[in-house]
Parts: sequence; C-alpha cells; structure tokens
Amino acid sequence: MKIAISSDHGGFELKGVICDYLTKKGHTVTDLGTNSPESCDYADYAEKCAHAVTSGEAELGILVCGTGIGISIAANKIKGIRCALCYSPETAALAKEHNNANIIAFGGRTMSEQSVLASIDAYLNTEFAGGRHQRRIDKIAALEQR
Ligand code: RB5
Repeated sequence: MKIAISSDHGGFELKGVICDYLTKKGHTVTDLGTNSPESCDYADYAEKCAHAVTSGEAELGILVCGTGIGISIAANKIKGIRCALCYSPETAALAKEHNNANIIAFGGRTMSEQSVLASIDAYLNTEFAGGRHQRRIDKIAALEQR
C-alpha cells in the first residue's frame, strides 16, 4: 500500500518508528517530514499529507503530533479528508469500518508505540462496511459546501 506520513516535532520520534514498521511490512512509505525534532507547526505537515491523499499519490495518510489533536483538526479542513484520531486498535478498526477514514492520526506524547502499531494493523486489516455508513460519509462531504 502507498502510505504518506508526516508529523510535527511532537510526533517526530513516533513517526520514525511507524515508518520503519510499515516499510518492513512491505508498504511504500513516503515521509513528508518534519525531518528533525526542531519546533515546527503541525498545520504545515497536516497539509502535506492531506494533499498526498487527495491527489491520489497515497492511498492512506498517517499523521502524528504531540496529542494527535491539532494535526487531525488541521487535516480535516482539507476537502475530501476524513482524518480519525485513533486511540486504540478498536477505534482504529472502526475508523475504517464505519468512517472509511483516509488519514489516521496518533499522539507521540500520549500513546505507546505498541498501541499505535497495533492500531495501524487493526485499521489495515479492516474493510469499510459501506451501506448506511456510505450514506453518512456522503453527508459529511455535503457539509463541505456549507
Ligand atoms: C506541540 O507542542 C503540540 O502542541 C502539538 O504537537 C500537538 O500536541 C497539538 O495538538
């Protein structure tokens, strides 16, 4: 799978762990920065990853900041993005099954590596259910016009 990933400084270390994990599993991972633990602004990195997803360069985006909150709020401002802040394998699976999230977000300062990697696996191993959930996603898209 083609996966784009980015973070701010608060997610820099966890981003590296995720990149290594997914690359070893055979995914094509594009790291869009940040490239150091220097302070930076999460909105800039949310935008890079979101555009990789909306352009089709990536099939999935992964975002990391300190809490996962700021970077997911920013990503959800981009038309076509459904970014889910996942805090467990269960919520990651539901982000795919119910929301067909095209970006998943995590907190580098608030979540354990083990939980985040298990959540990514749960997302990747789950299918979107469609049906009533597609109708609800269509209504989210309609909100972008208001
Ligand atoms: C950066 O200090 C921190 O505010 C950021 O990584 C994130 O947690 C914001 O939501």
